Amino acid sequence: MPAYAGDWNMSVLLIDGGRKLEGSVRVHGAKNSVLPILAATILNSGINIIENCPRLKDVESSVDILRHLGCSVERDGDTLIVDSSGMCRAYIPHNLMREMRSSVIFLGAIIARTGEAAMSHPGGCELGPRPIDLHIDAFKKLGVCVNMEEGGNIVCKAGRMVGREISLSIPSVGATENIMLLACACKGTTTISNAAREPEIEDLQNYLSELGVRVSGAGSSTVTIEGCAVFNDARHRVIGDRIVAATYLSAAAIVGGNIKVTDVDPNHLTKVLSILAEYGCDVETTKNSISLGRQSDLVAAKPIRTMPYPGFPTDAQAPIMAVATRAGGTTVFVENIFEVRYRHVSELVRMGADIRTEGRVAIVSGVPALYGASVRSTDLRGGASLIVAALGAIGSSEISGLEHVDRGYECIEDALGSLGASIKRVNNS
Ligand code: EPZ
Repeated sequence: MPAYAGDWNMSVLLIDGGRKLEGSVRVHGAKNSVLPILAATILNSGINIIENCPRLKDVESSVDILRHLGCSVERDGDTLIVDSSGMCRAYIPHNLMREMRSSVIFLGAIIARTGEAAMSHPGGCELGPRPIDLHIDAFKKLGVCVNMEEGGNIVCKAGRMVGREISLSIPSVGATENIMLLACACKGTTTISNAAREPEIEDLQNYLSELGVRVSGAGSSTVTIEGCAVFNDARHRVIGDRIVAATYLSAAAIVGGNIKVTDVDPNHLTKVLSILAEYGCDVETTKNSISLGRQSDLVAAKPIRTMPYPGFPTDAQAPIMAVATRAGGTTVFVENIFEVRYRHVSELVRMGADIRTEGRVAIVSGVPALYGASVRSTDLRGGASLIVAALGAIGSSEISGLEHVDRGYECIEDALGSLGASIKRVNNS
């Protein structure tokens, strides 16, 4: 039974800091791969076997949507089996959209399968407004009539969908994925330029290829998709989650010890690994693992600017900032992707961190120690940051707001506990 099942909003993590981490831990499948791939299972009206699917709230939200649409979904361990032949709806109601704003990724696949789609506007989230103008503009260019109705509904109706060149003003991950999914049903060739280059885009391309779609270029700035009329059943193993790996490595970096994270491609987080080495960690890699140790004191890294892949990932900013709080010297962070991504700062300061923020800039001056405290997560990666900080703090911490953390980390207490951390989840009702 996944840790978050039941009364997750009342449970908290209790952490006793200061225990060095030792050992090996497997990284679960990538949340940001699974979500677009689950949307893609709609395309083939058949059987889809998705391996290495983590037990996450966001995955469950996607499964809820697939079942609402009429697909059957079964879980067999880490494998989800999706049969999309029974799909009978083309709209996603507000209550399901509200569970996870990135459900907008279903729009392209639903239109590709049925020729229409409706959903409530995903709106913003803790990270600020999350516009979808790039998705909508591209859909219109590909032949979809899009109405943004009063009350926040998006209603789409496919006209004659013909592939064409789509140039993105921002290398948006979600827009790139949504266009790839819609393009599968467009006649001819669709080319996305200034496409996002994240590894999860490549994973989606690999899945689409399993379905029989002719798609290429993912991982580069130009992705090309040929419209497809007949799709295969598919089986696919999702890549390891590079941000979960970065989080576990940050935990070992702040408190010391020697750990190995397995089932992840180190090439997917090279910028994070080089920053951890700058902080004074010893990093070694193999084809599918990363080992990290720290024998000397942490020293501040050069300024960290979050950028689209292959730059430093915005999702790793918060966990790495926890490491920065204990590094000798000052680390400057510049958050270039999202407007509101420093909500963890105030809670880190309550633990004794010295951080000043000004707009997109955060200046982190290392302190001799952090101290355990009762702190609350307000977003997914901010919660991860508090966990990393608590592991490196003197004394005990209580971390609430686990509904955010459980969106992207499967049983984080089991993973870190297996490395020797003193961490447990208790029901606080
Ligand atoms: C994906 O979000 C990830 N989510 C995010 O991970 C990640 O932080 C983000 O990419 C950047 O890497 C999933 O994959 C489910 P974007 P997405 O479209 O697709 C602007 C996590 O913690 N933009 O690449 O929503 C947007 O406002 C989450 O796992 C537009 O202006 O991100 C942002 O400033 C958080 N118009 C920038 O582009 C649009 O139409 C990048 O957003 C779309 C985006």
